[in-house]
Amino acid sequence: MNGARIANADREPGNWLSHGRTYNEQRFSPLKVINDKNVTRMGLAWHYDLDTRRGQEATPLVVDGVMYFSTAWSKVVALQAATGKPLWTYDPKVPPEWAVNACCDVVNRGVAMWGGKVFVGTLDGRLVALDAGTGKPVWEKLTIDPKFRYTITGAPRVVKGKVLIGNGGAEMNVRGYISAYDTETGNLAWRFYTVPGDPSKPFESPILGKAAKTWTGEWWKNGGGGTVWDAMAYDPQLDLLYIGTGNGDPWARKIRNSQVGDNLLASSIIALRPDTGEYVWHYQENPGDEWDYDSAAQIILADLQIDGQLRKVLLHAPKNGFFYVLDRATGKLLSAKPFVRVTWATGIDLQTGRPIESPEAQYEASNKTLVVSPGPGGAHTWQPASYSPDTGLVYFPVLEAGFAYKSAEQFSHKALAFNTGTDPVASGMPQDPNIKKGILGSIKGRLSAWDPVKQVEVWRADRPGPWNGGALSTAGNLVFEGTGNGQFEAFRANTGEKLWSASAQSGIVAGPISYTVNGEQYVAILAGWGGVMPLAAGEVARQSPQMNNVPRMLAFKLGGKASLPPAPEFKPRALTPPRTTANPATVKKGEELYQQYCSNCHGDVAVSGGVLPDLRYSGTLKTDVWFGVVLDGMLKQAGMVAFAKEISRQDAAAIREYVVYRANQSLAESGNQKKP
Ligand code: HEC
Repeated sequence: MNGARIANADREPGNWLSHGRTYNEQRFSPLKVINDKNVTRMGLAWHYDLDTRRGQEATPLVVDGVMYFSTAWSKVVALQAATGKPLWTYDPKVPPEWAVNACCDVVNRGVAMWGGKVFVGTLDGRLVALDAGTGKPVWEKLTIDPKFRYTITGAPRVVKGKVLIGNGGAEMNVRGYISAYDTETGNLAWRFYTVPGDPSKPFESPILGKAAKTWTGEWWKNGGGGTVWDAMAYDPQLDLLYIGTGNGDPWARKIRNSQVGDNLLASSIIALRPDTGEYVWHYQENPGDEWDYDSAAQIILADLQIDGQLRKVLLHAPKNGFFYVLDRATGKLLSAKPFVRVTWATGIDLQTGRPIESPEAQYEASNKTLVVSPGPGGAHTWQPASYSPDTGLVYFPVLEAGFAYKSAEQFSHKALAFNTGTDPVASGMPQDPNIKKGILGSIKGRLSAWDPVKQVEVWRADRPGPWNGGALSTAGNLVFEGTGNGQFEAFRANTGEKLWSASAQSGIVAGPISYTVNGEQYVAILAGWGGVMPLAAGEVARQSPQMNNVPRMLAFKLGGKASLPPAPEFKPRALTPPRTTANPATVKKGEELYQQYCSNCHGDVAVSGGVLPDLRYSGTLKTDVWFGVVLDGMLKQAGMVAFAKEISRQDAAAIREYVVYRANQSLAESGNQKKP
């Protein structure tokens, strides 16, 4: 594997050589053995069950008959792509406690290949090169300073013999950057920081000196954010590498700065030279962002006819709900239109490229609780999008959900918490019935087929829930997508007519691929429920019908006759909480602590979205085992960190009182619902 092979990937359409298949990350497969006329005959070829019940977000690679992919906890699997027979597995043994540094599950979105090696970034910040034949490590580099709460969940890419890897952690007090390592030696070739550091020290690059003028106060003490946690694309002709950066840290811009500024280069698309990491241009989608609208969603490169002219463009549908088309040679904005209901801005000014922000979304200035759309889960985030040059459409999963924002009265970064600068109780899914009804009522999910030239939706497929999988389009006039309620489906790409579906028995959030082995075409998808929505926003995630989480790789082909074992029965459990006896002040204290420390994994307002335990049902509510788990790390090996360093026994007791209170509240609500 080398750059020429990836750059010429269309000469070997049977392989899937790089994360987005090609350097332009279009995720379009030129294969058409399976097409809109025969897809109804597609059936399961094989499946391979995984060993964890956590989120699965990876896009597999297929090279010469072998499939390589990463799974939860940054493990790697190699299978025979025609049969699913395992060849090797690799476990980097991420310390389970490191999970507390991950905002959004212990996921991994994929591996890269080059020169007989497979590269994976691990949750605890390592970049590991494996021998593609044996799965044995060849070299390993720590890409982070482990004093800080960095994580890696994104797929590396390899350009010109260098493995490119970023990291996440913008709510965890980190400073974003992307690094390039030599594929052979593992030596660091260059590192590009996306936000300026301590201005009393020399800036690492000239652009950071300029960027520092857009920050005020002592931002570097909070890291700044701007993490490069997902998107990368490469144009070999222009020799430009494109990356997308995350939100500023914390979300609330007045807490981040003493005076409001643009906070470059957070929430931006940046073009760099892949040999040196030298800055070329940037376009900032959210100057001085305050809603967690990062720009890390997938970047697609395409050549489009715009106003009678063939233009090299960059397509981007980030969390903030606008679909952007940029000139990718210069970074100039060509057009931007909302693809969902957007309330934070009325439009994007094409002259300045800046958003026209709405006063009614300024929660810090108003000092009120404001419901803003989209929320921090985005209108579209990391789930893969696909551009079909045949139809000229971009297919991607879209999510509509408002979010209540209120700024924190007091803010300080905590070493074991999720730090946003918003009020932990008033933000998210507040229990005020009117706010809650408004947010739940706004939730929608769909697969959208978007015309990037006309900037209009051409067709859509509504989904039962908001959190669904990524898309693949093919030359067979097909679009594939998996759903949060466990269906894997095919649509006619030009019209949106649903042609086929199969049950994966588990929620799907990852993106599909297609490949051939000996001329036989396969379509594969990694099933497994997880990611930010089911962990942090349980009530939103539960808008998808609930089911068991059964992570597995599934591959389909024409005439496939394999079958899955019977689906495990989903048994809703009975709520049997102890009686609530605590005084309201203790419950309130517990609520604040829960929302700050626990909600990011066990779900906002103590409602889990189906991956980690729903604490309202926990047997530990009745025994002192609660303290053993919460303070002393009894379940450390499963990824439940010990909180004793930051939470006192009294505080842990208050959190329990809040959960008990919520469990009783839910019991009363379900009782009320049952009455005629
Ligand atoms: C980084 C994610 C994460 C955070 C943050 C987190 N937990 Fe957990 N928690 C877990 C995991 C993982 C498990 C174990 C699941 C298993 O056993 O497989 C768990 C299990 C538990 C259990 C046992 C539940 C049962 O009955 O099985 C309790 C109680 C618990 N957590 C309480 C808390 C409290 C209280 C907080 C906040 C102070 C918290 N957790 C924060 C990930 C987290």
